Amino acid sequence: MRLPVLAYNKRALAMASSLEQTPVASPVAGAPARNAAASRTRVRPAMQRWPARLDLLQSLSGLLLALFLIAHMFFVSSILVSQQAFYTIARFFEGAAFLAEPRPWIVSCVVGVVMALFILHAWLALRKFPASFRQYRIFAEHREQLGHSDTGLWWIQLWTGFALFFLASVHLIGMLTQPALIGPYESADRIWTGNMWPIYLLLLFAVEIHGSIGLYRLALKWGWLQGADPLAVRRRLRIARTCFSLFFLALGLVTLLAYVQLGIAHADRAGERYVPHKAAARQAAQGRALEFALSRRPGE
Ligand code: HEM
Repeated sequence: MRLPVLAYNKRALAMASSLEQTPVASPVAGAPARNAAASRTRVRPAMQRWPARLDLLQSLSGLLLALFLIAHMFFVSSILVSQQAFYTIARFFEGAAFLAEPRPWIVSCVVGVVMALFILHAWLALRKFPASFRQYRIFAEHREQLGHSDTGLWWIQLWTGFALFFLASVHLIGMLTQPALIGPYESADRIWTGNMWPIYLLLLFAVEIHGSIGLYRLALKWGWLQGADPLAVRRRLRIARTCFSLFFLALGLVTLLAYVQLGIAHADRAGERYVPHKAAARQAAQGRALEFALSRRPGE
């Protein structure tokens, strides 16, 4: 009966001893160093609160990004409803509903805010990245020894977060510098003729996996949806995480496929802007009227 406890203690001991050998632990070995460290923390108690504050900020920035992404996936997938629906949403974010004409710089401002949040979140996460190959190896060993699924999730988050740093940056810079080029044909041309689809595919997997694990860990960390039976709560949260991932991955893949199909169909006219049906009909009527007026000789 005591075997699992012993095995666990052995692992904990192995973990503690290897942690002691890390550069983080070694400088404070010895009484004088310990006293110095203790007096430092006594002098500036406010400093002790910073790790907790930074943790809170990391959770908050992650939550805001996750909420933004949920809304973003629905906006982008409006192409599945119709080209006109996506066009209307894109113009709405340029202020078409309350300004005389759409202003794409409004989208650039929104992208700027999302970028700031993204950089803040990544910078806060960097605090927890292994700082050297030695720390990386120690963590990898502990992960294997513990065989704990949630520790494995942290590992996946570390790698998907690392990938997002590059993949999301490419996308965000594109949106920041070309906000006017968001529309059914414009987006489809970028994805197919502009060869962006492999980046979007990787970005989609990285962000959905990272986001769903992030929300699951937030719920556990801050005790959301707690109940009488913690194991049952954890099981329910795992199911919710899997459903969230699968739903947004499926929605993202179907949406990406729709853009690819439209991009292929529009490839020979790549660069042509989308014009909504009503405006296209108005333009055609104006063109016909002009042609008619020009064809008439004076005095006819
Ligand atoms: C305000 C900032 C953002 C704007 C305006 C924006 C806009 C768009 C647009 C218009 C598309 C359609 C393709 C295109 O036109 O190139 C798209 C696709 C996509 N975006 Fe964003 N995006 C933003 C931020 C982000 C962020 C922060 C992420 C992830 C970290 C992200 C992930 C994706 C993914 C994965 C797709 C492919 C969608 C799919 O397969 O369904 N976007 N985005």
